[in-house]
Amino acid sequence: MRRSEDIESLLREPRVFDPPPDFAAGAKVRDLETYRREHRRSLEDPEGFWGEKASALLWYRPWDRVLEWQPPHARWFAGGLTNLAANCLDRHLPDRAGKTAILWEGEPGETRTLTYGELHAEVCRFANVLRAQGVGAGDRVAIYMPMVPELPVAMLACARIGAVHSVVFGGFSAEALRDRVLDAQAKLVVTADGGFRRGAVVPLKAAVDDALRGETPVERVIVLRRVGDGARLRPGRDRWWHELAAAAPAECEAAPVEAEHPLFILYTSGTTGKPKGIVHTTGGYMVGCHLTAGLVFDLRETDVYWCTADAGWVTGHSYVVYGPLLNGATTVLYEGAPNHPEPDRFWRIVERHRVSVFYTAPTAIRAFVKWGEEWPARHDLTSLRLLGSVGEPINPAAWTWYHRVLGGGRCPIVDTWWQTETGAIMITPFPGATPTKPGSATLPFYGVDAEVVDDAGEPVDDPSRGGLLVIRRPWPSMLRTIHGDPGRYVEQYWSRFADRGWYVTGDGAHRDAEGYFWILGRLDDVLNVAGHRLGTMEIESAIVSHPSVAEAAVVGRRDELKGQAVVAFVTLEGHAQARPDLAQELREHVVRQIGAIARPDEVRFTPGLPKTRSGKIMRRLLQDVAEGRDLGDTTTLEDRQIVEELRGE
Ligand code: WT7
Repeated sequence: MRRSEDIESLLREPRVFDPPPDFAAGAKVRDLETYRREHRRSLEDPEGFWGEKASALLWYRPWDRVLEWQPPHARWFAGGLTNLAANCLDRHLPDRAGKTAILWEGEPGETRTLTYGELHAEVCRFANVLRAQGVGAGDRVAIYMPMVPELPVAMLACARIGAVHSVVFGGFSAEALRDRVLDAQAKLVVTADGGFRRGAVVPLKAAVDDALRGETPVERVIVLRRVGDGARLRPGRDRWWHELAAAAPAECEAAPVEAEHPLFILYTSGTTGKPKGIVHTTGGYMVGCHLTAGLVFDLRETDVYWCTADAGWVTGHSYVVYGPLLNGATTVLYEGAPNHPEPDRFWRIVERHRVSVFYTAPTAIRAFVKWGEEWPARHDLTSLRLLGSVGEPINPAAWTWYHRVLGGGRCPIVDTWWQTETGAIMITPFPGATPTKPGSATLPFYGVDAEVVDDAGEPVDDPSRGGLLVIRRPWPSMLRTIHGDPGRYVEQYWSRFADRGWYVTGDGAHRDAEGYFWILGRLDDVLNVAGHRLGTMEIESAIVSHPSVAEAAVVGRRDELKGQAVVAFVTLEGHAQARPDLAQELREHVVRQIGAIARPDEVRFTPGLPKTRSGKIMRRLLQDVAEGRDLGDTTTLEDRQIVEELRGE
């Protein structure tokens, strides 16, 4: 853990971009005064504010109380009965049955659209399938699929019957899937024979078979035929999606569930080896997704909205599936890689489907910059009216490129800060109201009481100093616990300022003279690689599980494209030799344990690791070494020699 005094605010970006007047004129929130007034009201009267926002949605029974807060445990809309799938689908049927809900493009180029009416029918059918296979309210269903329409169908079908989904990103390995299935105690897995990525088949079903070896709680595997490469079903356990769905009725009453009924578990990296199963519940999450998606993306009836995230991450949950559907929008899903068959694939999609709102990650934007302006220049991107960014701080150079090249200088950019734990966007511009500064996520969303504080909890007013980003009150879409580990929930997020009931985000930030938030990145031992959170401990455990390895320490090195690259320092068991092919073997070992996203960019062998007297690995120092910086203060080093060897001195 880094101390907050050490955080230097590095960004100094003087430019300000006002919302374009014609955009502001038609926007839901048109000026900064309106934003400030509403934000103030949301903090002065949170129950009034959130009660009003929740009333826009469908409830079978109203809540007794908007918020019950016994720090750090919140109950939002307690006593209320609702259903998220009914709010995403049934609520729209009177007006939007024929409107496109999902617009899908497969990597090979085929497209499919599902209207709200059709999506409703598919979800009902699959909800009936799940029930017929023995899934009831509260049961966990693991979903391990490519980005095809059946992925949101499976999520919504779970929500419809009160089952809890746990979507596992299709890029995770069999081992990672196994850990998550076991931790969640899933009784059913939904998968596909495979998916397409860069022209190749990702063998998802084979990974499921591997993940489910031996005894597991999984009774049933439902397999979607996506690639048709002859995947074999295991008798007794596996069933084809199309066979089950064909036999299921297209009507299924949505089950009214308590507002605090669990909706999903989603795993994210923390500072220990084991990923945390973040638990979100129904009512508050729904209200948060609905309001943020509507206002931050300024969604209008005619928008074609595309968030490029995979549904396996929280961005996909909240802003590919639930947020846009709650708003009755058209949401685009794309299965494959951004540069397949060529680096203009995204711009082909924007042009072909007349995408108007586009939401992606800085790491992707930096890749577009690298591939060159000629790729977007080949396409008509004038349908775009709003651009968004999420996942890591966006560097001003990438921001201005995004603004100029993709946005043609006319589209506002919303740089949205949030986390798996927050469920919905927390710090963000309102595109018609907030002047933006490249690199700043700007100001808190309604109901969000964000502050940058020092270790004593005092606000840091000095714009040149950084501190800890905290949220000083509960918000509807907040996480409720960590699955199976309620103690860790309290310890990880709420213990530092326990007496005040503040949520500690784990990010460092600073505020400028106008109160704008500038996110500096994680303060804990968590890397942000290509917009994905990876725990250093998680990668270290994977490396150490290799028989040749004695000890490992993983740090992030600044990387132009990915934000951070993974560098592993490894000491070997006595018998093992530090051969180059062993480095390669260890990299692939990590891929098998976690997935390609965690593959170390560099493996450095070392006879020892620098440690403090108490035996703690000195990661800061290793990071200095990895980034080729001068050594800092090493007086506390047990063995200075080790560092010199690491640096090749
Ligand atoms: C961490 C959360 C929330 C969706 C994707 C990632 C970093 C996220 C921003 C942003 C600077 C950002 C933070 C945060 N982050 N958005 N706009 N500016 N940093 O979800 O995997 O839970 O990671 O991503 O460090 O804590 P996640």
